[in-house]
Amino acid sequence: MAQILQGDLVAREVLDSVSQRVSRLSDTNGVDACLAVVLVGHDPASEIYVRRKQKAARSVGIRSLEYRLDEETSQQGLLDLVHKLNADPAVHGILVQLPLPSHIAGDVILGAIAPQKDVDGFHPVNVGRLSTGAGGGLVPCTPLGCVMLLERVIDDFRGLKAVVIGKSNIVGKPAALLLLDRECTVTVTHIHTRGLPDIARSADIIIAAAGSPRLVRGDWVKPGAVVIDVGINRIALEDGTSAIVGDVALDECDHAAVITPVPKGVGPMTIACLLKNTVHAAEAMAR
Ligand code: GUN
Repeated sequence: MAQILQGDLVAREVLDSVSQRVSRLSDTNGVDACLAVVLVGHDPASEIYVRRKQKAARSVGIRSLEYRLDEETSQQGLLDLVHKLNADPAVHGILVQLPLPSHIAGDVILGAIAPQKDVDGFHPVNVGRLSTGAGGGLVPCTPLGCVMLLERVIDDFRGLKAVVIGKSNIVGKPAALLLLDRECTVTVTHIHTRGLPDIARSADIIIAAAGSPRLVRGDWVKPGAVVIDVGINRIALEDGTSAIVGDVALDECDHAAVITPVPKGVGPMTIACLLKNTVHAAEAMAR
C-alpha cells in the first residue's frame, strides 16, 4: 500500500509555526501582520478559495482585509486599489485572486503589486529570483507546498527524476524550478506532450498539475514513485451529484511509495504557504 501523505496534517504544523511568528511580531515589534485579498467578480470557485484563505488567516492571527470589486470594474480601477494597498504600511501581503475578468490584463495587475508584498510570488521580480536561483523572493504557494510535502518523505533530491505535468505560471513552471534548485533532473510536460505515460513512468517524483481529472493512471506510475496530486476537479457523477477528484487515479496507485490525496492533500498546503509568505513579508518589512 502506498503511504497517503496527509497535506492537511502538515499544513496544521505550518500554521502553528506561522501563528507563533505572528504573535512574536506583534509582541516584539508591535506589528499586526495583515493580508489584503482582492476578488473581482463572482467566480464560484474563487469565492470558495478566498473565503478559505481569509478564515485560515484569521485562525493564525493575521488580519485579513477583503476587497470585492464588481465584475465590470475597469483595469484602472483595480490598479488604483493595488497602488493604494502598496502604499499602505499596515498591509503586508496583497493577493489578487485569479482568474480575472477577460477585459483586465492579469500580467499588468500582477506586475503592479509591490514585489515585497507579492505573497503569491507572481510578480516578475519574484519569478526572476526563483528562476535565477538568486533567492530572497516570495515563492508561489502551491509549488512551495508541494516541495514542503516532498521534503517530508525525501531526504536527498539530488539526481532524482522529476516529471511535472502542467506548465502553468502558478504551479508547473515554479514547481519545476524549485525541483531543479534541489538538483533533480526535471522534465516539464503538459497535456500535449507526446508519449506522456512513458515519460511519467520514468519518474521518481510526479507532480500532477494539469487540471485534468484522473489523467494520471496507475500504469503511468513507477513502483516506488512519490506522487503529488495538485488537481482539484469537480466531476459530475451518474446519480446527478458531483465529486472533487484530483489529476491522479489514486485508487490505481497502490504501488506508489507515497501519494497525496484530494481533498486534504496539496490544497491545505497552498493556504498554509500563503500565510507563511504573509508573515515572512511582514517580518521583512518590520526589520
Ligand atoms: N487562482 C488559482 N490559484 C491561485 C493562486 O494561487 N493565487 C491566486 N491569486 N489566484 C489563484
